[in-house]
Amino acid sequence: MAPSEGCQHYADLSEMPWDIQKYYHQRFSIFSKYDEGIWMTEDAWFGVTPEPIACIIAKHIDGTASVSKTILIDCFAGVGGNVIAFAQSERWKRIYAIEKDPTALACAKHNAEIYGVRDKISWYEGDCFKILRKELAELGQHSILFASPPWGGPGYRSDTVFDLAKMQPYTLTDLLSPFRHFTEDIVLYLPRTSDIRQLANESSEGSKTTVMHYCMEGASKAVCAYYGAFAFH
Ligand SMILES: C[S@@+](CC[C@H](N)C(=O)[O-])C[C@H]1O[C@@H](n2cnc3c(N)ncnc32)[C@H](O)[C@@H]1O
Repeated sequence: MAPSEGCQHYADLSEMPWDIQKYYHQRFSIFSKYDEGIWMTEDAWFGVTPEPIACIIAKHIDGTASVSKTILIDCFAGVGGNVIAFAQSERWKRIYAIEKDPTALACAKHNAEIYGVRDKISWYEGDCFKILRKELAELGQHSILFASPPWGGPGYRSDTVFDLAKMQPYTLTDLLSPFRHFTEDIVLYLPRTSDIRQLANESSEGSKTTVMHYCMEGASKAVCAYYGAFAFH
Protein backbone atom coordinates (compact mmCIF):
# COMPACT_ATOMS: atom_id res chain seq x y z
CA MET A 1 0.00 0.00 0.00
CA ALA A 2 1.42 3.40 -1.00
CA PRO A 3 1.91 5.67 2.03
CA SER A 4 -0.50 8.63 2.51
CA GLU A 5 0.96 12.05 1.82
CA GLY A 6 3.69 12.93 4.33
CA CYS A 7 3.98 9.36 5.62
CA GLN A 8 7.01 7.38 4.47
CA HIS A 9 8.23 3.84 4.44
CA TYR A 10 11.94 3.71 3.66
CA ALA A 11 12.96 0.30 2.35
CA ASP A 12 16.58 1.39 1.99
CA LEU A 13 18.92 3.78 3.79
CA SER A 14 19.70 5.63 0.54
CA GLU A 15 16.03 6.76 0.28
CA MET A 16 16.21 8.58 3.60
CA PRO A 17 17.01 12.29 4.09
CA TRP A 18 20.61 12.49 5.38
CA ASP A 19 19.71 14.17 8.66
CA ILE A 20 17.61 11.22 9.86
CA GLN A 21 19.73 8.43 8.35
CA LYS A 22 21.28 7.78 11.78
CA TYR A 23 17.93 6.34 12.92
CA TYR A 24 17.63 3.80 10.09
CA HIS A 25 19.60 1.04 11.84
CA GLN A 26 17.18 1.34 14.79
CA ARG A 27 14.13 0.62 12.63
CA PHE A 28 13.48 -2.89 14.00
CA SER A 29 13.86 -1.81 17.62
CA ILE A 30 11.41 1.00 16.89
CA PHE A 31 8.87 -1.34 15.27
CA SER A 32 9.71 -5.07 15.06
CA LYS A 33 7.29 -5.29 12.10
CA TYR A 34 9.03 -2.40 10.27
CA ASP A 35 9.46 -4.49 7.12
CA GLU A 36 5.73 -5.17 6.89
CA GLY A 37 5.35 -1.57 5.71
CA ILE A 38 5.45 0.66 8.81
CA TRP A 39 4.83 4.34 8.03
CA MET A 40 6.76 7.14 9.72
CA THR A 41 6.85 10.92 9.58
CA GLU A 42 10.27 12.61 9.63
CA ASP A 43 9.72 13.83 13.22
CA ALA A 44 8.63 10.39 14.37
CA TRP A 45 12.10 8.91 13.87
CA PHE A 46 13.19 11.01 16.80
CA GLY A 47 9.98 11.06 18.86
CA VAL A 48 8.58 7.52 18.64
CA THR A 49 8.75 5.25 21.68
CA PRO A 50 10.70 2.09 20.68
CA GLU A 51 8.62 -1.09 20.86
CA PRO A 52 10.50 -2.86 23.70
CA ILE A 53 10.07 0.21 25.91
CA ALA A 54 6.44 0.75 24.87
CA CYS A 55 5.70 -2.90 25.75
CA ILE A 56 7.25 -2.74 29.21
CA ILE A 57 5.47 0.54 29.99
CA ALA A 58 2.20 -1.08 28.86
CA LYS A 59 2.92 -4.03 31.17
CA HIS A 60 3.68 -1.75 34.12
CA ILE A 61 0.47 0.23 33.65
CA ASP A 62 -1.54 -3.01 33.24
CA GLY A 63 -0.12 -4.43 36.44
CA THR A 64 -0.34 -1.38 38.70
CA ALA A 65 -3.46 0.59 37.70
CA SER A 66 -6.57 0.24 39.85
CA VAL A 67 -9.05 -2.39 38.57
CA SER A 68 -11.69 0.37 38.48
CA LYS A 69 -9.75 1.90 35.58
CA THR A 70 -10.85 0.30 32.33
CA ILE A 71 -9.94 2.95 29.74
CA LEU A 72 -6.50 4.08 28.64
CA ILE A 73 -6.08 7.35 26.75
CA ASP A 74 -2.87 8.18 24.85
CA CYS A 75 -2.92 11.98 24.56
CA PHE A 76 0.02 12.35 22.13
CA ALA A 77 -0.28 9.23 19.99
CA GLY A 78 2.32 10.15 17.33
CA VAL A 79 2.79 7.27 14.87
CA GLY A 80 1.47 4.77 17.40
CA GLY A 81 4.49 3.45 19.31
CA ASN A 82 2.76 3.43 22.70
CA VAL A 83 -0.86 3.09 21.73
CA ILE A 84 -0.20 -0.09 19.73
CA ALA A 85 1.48 -1.64 22.78
CA PHE A 86 -1.47 -0.61 25.00
CA ALA A 87 -3.98 -2.10 22.57
CA GLN A 88 -2.21 -5.46 22.55
CA SER A 89 -3.29 -6.02 26.16
CA GLU A 90 -6.66 -7.56 27.02
CA ARG A 91 -6.71 -5.47 30.21
CA TRP A 92 -8.53 -2.45 28.72
CA LYS A 93 -12.17 -2.13 27.72
CA ARG A 94 -11.22 0.64 25.30
CA ILE A 95 -8.13 2.54 24.18
CA TYR A 96 -8.32 6.13 22.90
CA ALA A 97 -5.62 7.78 20.76
CA ILE A 98 -5.43 11.55 20.31
CA GLU A 99 -3.01 13.21 17.87
CA LYS A 100 -3.15 16.71 16.42
CA ASP A 101 -0.96 16.08 13.36
CA PRO A 102 -3.13 14.39 10.70
CA THR A 103 -0.07 12.88 8.99
CA ALA A 104 1.20 11.26 12.19
CA LEU A 105 -2.34 10.05 12.90
CA ALA A 106 -2.59 8.44 9.45
CA CYS A 107 0.71 6.65 10.14
CA ALA A 108 -0.52 5.50 13.57
CA LYS A 109 -3.74 4.03 12.15
CA HIS A 110 -1.84 2.24 9.40
CA ASN A 111 0.76 0.91 11.86
CA ALA A 112 -1.98 -0.27 14.23
CA GLU A 113 -3.48 -2.17 11.29
CA ILE A 114 -0.15 -3.96 10.76
CA TYR A 115 -0.19 -5.01 14.44
CA GLY A 116 -3.84 -6.09 14.17
CA VAL A 117 -5.15 -3.63 16.77
CA ARG A 118 -6.57 -0.72 14.73
CA ASP A 119 -10.17 -1.55 15.67
CA LYS A 120 -9.40 -1.72 19.37
CA ILE A 121 -8.53 1.99 19.34
CA SER A 122 -10.85 5.02 19.06
CA TRP A 123 -8.98 7.65 17.05
CA TYR A 124 -9.25 11.41 17.59
CA GLU A 125 -7.57 14.08 15.49
CA GLY A 126 -7.00 17.37 17.32
CA ASP A 127 -5.74 19.04 20.47
CA CYS A 128 -5.76 16.62 23.40
CA PHE A 129 -6.52 19.30 26.00
CA LYS A 130 -9.63 20.35 24.09
CA ILE A 131 -10.75 16.80 23.28
CA LEU A 132 -10.40 15.67 26.93
CA ARG A 133 -12.44 18.69 28.05
CA LYS A 134 -15.11 18.66 25.36
CA GLU A 135 -15.51 15.12 24.03
CA LEU A 136 -14.19 12.69 26.62
CA ALA A 137 -14.89 14.50 29.92
CA GLU A 138 -17.31 11.88 31.24
CA LEU A 139 -14.67 9.13 30.91
CA GLY A 140 -12.29 10.70 33.46
CA GLN A 141 -13.19 8.54 36.47
CA HIS A 142 -12.66 5.34 34.46
CA SER A 143 -9.45 6.42 32.72
CA ILE A 144 -5.67 6.41 32.91
CA LEU A 145 -4.02 9.21 30.91
CA PHE A 146 -0.73 8.43 29.21
CA ALA A 147 1.21 11.34 27.72
CA SER A 148 4.45 11.35 25.73
CA PRO A 149 4.60 15.06 24.87
CA PRO A 150 7.14 16.66 22.55
CA TRP A 151 10.33 17.43 24.50
CA GLY A 152 11.39 20.37 22.35
CA GLY A 153 13.65 18.45 19.92
CA PRO A 154 16.95 16.55 20.31
CA GLY A 155 18.53 19.53 22.19
CA TYR A 156 17.33 18.06 25.51
CA ARG A 157 20.25 15.62 25.33
CA SER A 158 22.80 18.33 26.11
CA ASP A 159 21.27 19.15 29.53
CA THR A 160 22.68 17.33 32.58
CA VAL A 161 19.39 18.00 34.33
CA PHE A 162 16.41 18.76 32.11
CA ASP A 163 14.35 21.69 33.39
CA LEU A 164 10.71 20.62 33.03
CA ALA A 165 9.57 24.21 33.58
CA LYS A 166 11.21 25.05 30.25
CA MET A 167 10.03 22.04 28.25
CA GLN A 168 8.49 23.15 24.93
CA PRO A 169 5.74 23.53 23.89
CA TYR A 170 4.21 22.25 27.18
CA THR A 171 5.86 22.56 30.59
CA LEU A 172 5.23 19.99 33.31
CA THR A 173 2.58 22.27 34.82
CA ASP A 174 0.96 22.93 31.42
CA LEU A 175 0.43 19.17 31.19
CA LEU A 176 -0.54 18.25 34.73
CA SER A 177 -3.02 21.03 35.49
CA PRO A 178 -5.47 20.27 32.66
CA PHE A 179 -4.90 16.53 32.93
CA ARG A 180 -5.79 16.60 36.65
CA HIS A 181 -9.15 18.12 35.84
CA PHE A 182 -9.79 14.91 33.95
CA THR A 183 -8.21 12.27 36.25
CA GLU A 184 -5.52 11.97 38.94
CA ASP A 185 -4.10 8.82 37.31
CA ILE A 186 -1.50 10.11 34.86
CA VAL A 187 1.65 8.60 33.35
CA LEU A 188 4.12 11.03 31.77
CA TYR A 189 6.90 9.85 29.45
CA LEU A 190 9.76 12.33 29.81
CA PRO A 191 13.48 12.85 29.13
CA ARG A 192 15.79 10.57 31.10
CA THR A 193 17.50 13.59 32.67
CA SER A 194 14.22 15.14 33.91
CA ASP A 195 14.60 17.05 37.19
CA ILE A 196 13.37 14.59 39.83
CA ARG A 197 12.68 17.40 42.33
CA GLN A 198 10.30 19.06 39.89
CA LEU A 199 8.54 15.72 39.37
CA ALA A 200 8.32 15.14 43.16
CA ASN A 201 6.99 18.65 43.77
CA GLU A 202 4.01 17.85 41.59
CA SER A 203 2.94 14.88 43.76
CA SER A 204 -0.47 15.34 45.30
CA GLU A 205 -0.56 15.97 49.07
CA GLY A 206 0.36 12.79 50.97
CA SER A 207 0.84 10.62 47.88
CA LYS A 208 3.97 9.12 46.35
CA THR A 209 5.04 9.38 42.72
CA THR A 210 6.96 6.53 41.13
CA VAL A 211 9.61 7.53 38.59
CA MET A 212 10.88 4.64 36.48
CA HIS A 213 13.82 4.65 34.09
CA TYR A 214 13.31 2.68 30.89
CA CYS A 215 16.51 1.30 29.39
CA MET A 216 17.66 -0.29 26.16
CA GLU A 217 21.09 -1.82 25.69
CA GLY A 218 22.02 -0.86 29.24
CA ALA A 219 21.26 2.85 28.91
CA SER A 220 18.27 4.85 30.07
CA LYS A 221 16.19 6.16 27.17
CA ALA A 222 13.46 7.95 29.12
CA VAL A 223 11.59 8.02 32.41
CA CYS A 224 7.93 7.61 33.24
CA ALA A 225 6.42 9.48 36.17
CA TYR A 226 3.38 7.71 37.60
CA TYR A 227 1.02 10.14 39.36
CA GLY A 228 -2.03 8.82 41.19
CA ALA A 229 -3.04 5.34 42.33
CA PHE A 230 -0.48 2.95 40.83
CA ALA A 231 0.37 -0.07 43.00
CA PHE A 232 4.16 -0.38 42.61
CA HIS A 233 5.81 -2.41 45.42
C1 LIG B 1 6.84 12.57 21.11
S1 LIG B 1 5.55 12.48 19.97
C2 LIG B 1 4.63 11.07 20.54
C3 LIG B 1 5.23 9.77 20.13
C4 LIG B 1 4.36 8.56 20.36
N1 LIG B 1 4.36 8.15 21.74
C5 LIG B 1 4.85 7.39 19.49
O1 LIG B 1 5.40 6.43 20.05
O2 LIG B 1 4.71 7.49 18.26
C6 LIG B 1 4.50 13.80 20.43
C7 LIG B 1 3.28 13.95 19.54
O3 LIG B 1 2.38 14.87 20.15
C8 LIG B 1 1.68 15.53 19.13
N2 LIG B 1 1.05 16.71 19.77
C9 LIG B 1 1.65 17.86 20.15
N3 LIG B 1 0.76 18.67 20.75
C10 LIG B 1 -0.42 18.00 20.78
C11 LIG B 1 -1.70 18.30 21.30
N4 LIG B 1 -1.95 19.46 21.92
N5 LIG B 1 -2.68 17.38 21.17
C12 LIG B 1 -2.45 16.21 20.54
N6 LIG B 1 -1.25 15.87 20.02
C13 LIG B 1 -0.24 16.75 20.14
C14 LIG B 1 2.74 15.81 18.09
O4 LIG B 1 2.15 16.04 16.81
C15 LIG B 1 3.57 14.52 18.15
O5 LIG B 1 3.14 13.60 17.18
